[in-house]
Amino acid sequence: MGTGPGRFLASRAGLPKPPRLRRYEAGQDLLTGPARVLGLSGASWTAEVTGWLRAAGVEVVLGNDGDERLGAVVVDATGLRRVAELEELRAGLAPEFRRTTGRVVVLSAVPAELPDVEARAVQQGLEGFVRSLAKEARGGTTVNLLRVADGARTSVRSAVEFFCSARSAFVDGQPLVVGAGVPVPPRDRRVAVVTGAAQGIGAATVEVLARSGHHVVCVDVAASGDKLAAVANRVQGSTLHLDVTAEDAPRTLATHLADRFDGADVVVHNAGITRDRSFVNLDEAAWGSVLAVNLAAPIRLTTGLLDHPGALAPGARFVCLSSMNGLAGARGQTNYATSKAGLVGLVQALAGPLAQRGLAINAVAPGFVETPMTAAMPPVPRELGRRISSLQQGGLPVDVAETIGWLAQPDAAGIDGQVLRVCGQNLLGA
Ligand SMILES: NC(=O)c1ccc[n+]([C@@H]2O[C@H](COP(=O)([O-])OP(=O)(O)OC[C@H]3O[C@@H](n4cnc5c(N)ncnc54)[C@H](O)[C@@H]3O)[C@@H](O)[C@H]2O)c1
Repeated sequence: MGTGPGRFLASRAGLPKPPRLRRYEAGQDLLTGPARVLGLSGASWTAEVTGWLRAAGVEVVLGNDGDERLGAVVVDATGLRRVAELEELRAGLAPEFRRTTGRVVVLSAVPAELPDVEARAVQQGLEGFVRSLAKEARGGTTVNLLRVADGARTSVRSAVEFFCSARSAFVDGQPLVVGAGVPVPPRDRRVAVVTGAAQGIGAATVEVLARSGHHVVCVDVAASGDKLAAVANRVQGSTLHLDVTAEDAPRTLATHLADRFDGADVVVHNAGITRDRSFVNLDEAAWGSVLAVNLAAPIRLTTGLLDHPGALAPGARFVCLSSMNGLAGARGQTNYATSKAGLVGLVQALAGPLAQRGLAINAVAPGFVETPMTAAMPPVPRELGRRISSLQQGGLPVDVAETIGWLAQPDAAGIDGQVLRVCGQNLLGA
């Protein structure tokens, strides 16, 4: 994994080899082996989940058939209401967990929707369970929690499939609320915009969105020149040279989308910069430029698109690139963390009003990702950054892109106002 110096340091320190993660490849099976669907007391999703997995070509085994390796276990714990019932989770899952190499997905209720104190406590407890089990999982197995809100059918199916699939390879130990969402009307051609598309996570996102049938408008500064064109050409997308901080950027982008594309279905606020320095050494330029690109621009672009008739298609979805460091705090990154935590505020502030218009907004928060940005770090902190995650490695740009690609799908409409970490369960701020 990673760079030569990183491998050298890891072997000198006697660290185990990180597991090889199974990532998406065209035509691959959803799982590497059969799945088990475990319904605990009061479970209501067992039959549906079984049906969805079978429809996706997965063999679903009904009992514990011995030593056969499982590709996934889906646990329906939505009906658990009493502390004593948690024993079912232990007794039912422990033998299955032992033979699972792939995915564990736990379905829970949304604690806030439950009137009963004990039920709420039990359902909240599942978060601690999932976060801990993820730390015990080996071989690239991930464990995640889906909190299923009332009436959330379509998005539950979409979420179960995503969290079982290789597309979620680097999402681990995370809780996510799955709501009902507003159905997104179909369109002949879906259009996505990705800012900062010339390289890194942005370029990978362009590829994933194009793979799922989007025409992608690739946005980056003029200086990105040929690199941006190459990314767009690979997927028959188009380019727009735009500095997202420019005074007229919101109007330029809105007009472009309304006049040429009949509105965007997906807007990914990916452009971002770092200017790392200890707080006392940050000058106005290093402070201000990071806030301008990473926070002020997404706010202005989002409101500009919302206010411009025709800039957004019905059911449009925004995805912001936050950061684990924004959630956890990072030495030398007070400017960056302010901007990235600020995006969480943007998501939370807009989710309600946008939902009333049938739109949605979410953030992904990448952890340590192998990009030119992290390659420039000194070897020791770089190797440490990779290793302090449950998956014991850094992610790849495509891991973040796959998560954005899923959030952009019409059938993920029930995911709204959320921040999903793509960090391999990194210990920072977890
Ligand atoms: N790499 C990581 O480990 C990591 C971790 C957490 C969050 N993120 C976030 O993910 C996003 C992408 O990160 P990356 O590592 O791929 O970055 P990167 O530096 O490789 O690419 C960023 C792109 O944004 C473009 N850009 C910068 N300023 C711009 C502006 N004013 N207008 C238009 N485009 C502009 C750049 O030209 C570049 O192409 C960023 O928002 C970053 O903060 C990255």
